[in-house]
Amino acid sequence: MAKLDINTKYPMNSGFEIPVLGYGVYQTPADEAASVVHHALKTGYRHIDSAVAYRNEAPSSAGMNTFMKETNIPRGELFFTSKVPARNLNYENAKKVIDETLNKTGLDYIDLYLLHAPYGGKQGRLGAWRALVEAVEAGKIRSIGVSNYGVHHLEELEQYIKETDAKQGKGKGGILSVNQVELHPWLARPDIVDWCKARGVVVEAYSPLVQGQRAKDKTLAMLSKKHNKTWAQILIRWSLQKGFVPLPKSVTKSRIEDNANVYDFELSDEDMKSLDTGEYSPCTWDPTTSRD
Ligand SMILES: NC(=O)c1ccc[n+]([C@@H]2O[C@H](COP(=O)([O-])OP(=O)(O)OC[C@H]3O[C@@H](n4cnc5c(N)ncnc54)[C@H](OP(=O)(O)O)[C@@H]3O)[C@@H](O)[C@H]2O)c1
Repeated sequence: MAKLDINTKYPMNSGFEIPVLGYGVYQTPADEAASVVHHALKTGYRHIDSAVAYRNEAPSSAGMNTFMKETNIPRGELFFTSKVPARNLNYENAKKVIDETLNKTGLDYIDLYLLHAPYGGKQGRLGAWRALVEAVEAGKIRSIGVSNYGVHHLEELEQYIKETDAKQGKGKGGILSVNQVELHPWLARPDIVDWCKARGVVVEAYSPLVQGQRAKDKTLAMLSKKHNKTWAQILIRWSLQKGFVPLPKSVTKSRIEDNANVYDFELSDEDMKSLDTGEYSPCTWDPTTSRD
């Protein structure tokens, strides 16, 4: 495995790069977001994962702005993600929320914009995707992707991209760079991961800490003792070693720091195997299985 550190980035199909450790802000109250995002950036994270639905895009970008002013670190070193809400997913709504994100955040461009979930039927999904593609052409977004897409949703999108490219010219169907799904040892989703890896689609791991629900797991306790690391650090390291882009969330400053302190140890092949549970146990919603 190539050596990882806090500055590691992966290439995306779009041609841009994504910082491998993300910082999630789901359930981060708007009045805390600026301060915790600022702290995460000071700690060394360079990648913020927000969404329209989180209602904290503006304060999250305010935290980025304060950090950039203080450090002279340029915008190009930071990475900001937002997502088209799952409700009423269609072309018009997607077009509207992308402009709203730009207005609310004051950012010149958004690094990555995702469709939050594959609800809304085929027409809604592909219409919203078309709005993302147009926003890339207009320079509003750099890279685009999806979230909570199962293999059947990914195949529908791949088919659309192929047909559109064939009819209108290469690239006109858009370029799929990322699929963001819940991933941890109790939900390893080999089907989705293999599909994405075969096509160079970056896999982002949300709820990489299982929202704290497995803190007392026995295997985690054993690995934690062995490596002198916390259960949370073991889970982030598992995600990194699987080749994912983990997005741990914390509003606690010491935990923000601990969650980034994962580059001075490595899980062995045997350690990784001990975390192969084969379970299907989502800790949040699971739209990947939706069939509408
Ligand atoms: N696309 C989607 O549908 C989707 C869905 C869910 C999440 N996400 C993304 O993924 C990110 C992370 O997922 P998540 O927020 O569901 O859960 P998570 O990162 O798995 O867990 C967050 C929880 O773990 C606690 N925690 C964090 N670090 C800890 C540590 N070192 N020790 C002990 N507890 C710790 C946090 O508490 P404190 O905050 O109180 O410290 C919080 O309660 C989200 O913020 C969001 O960006 C995306």
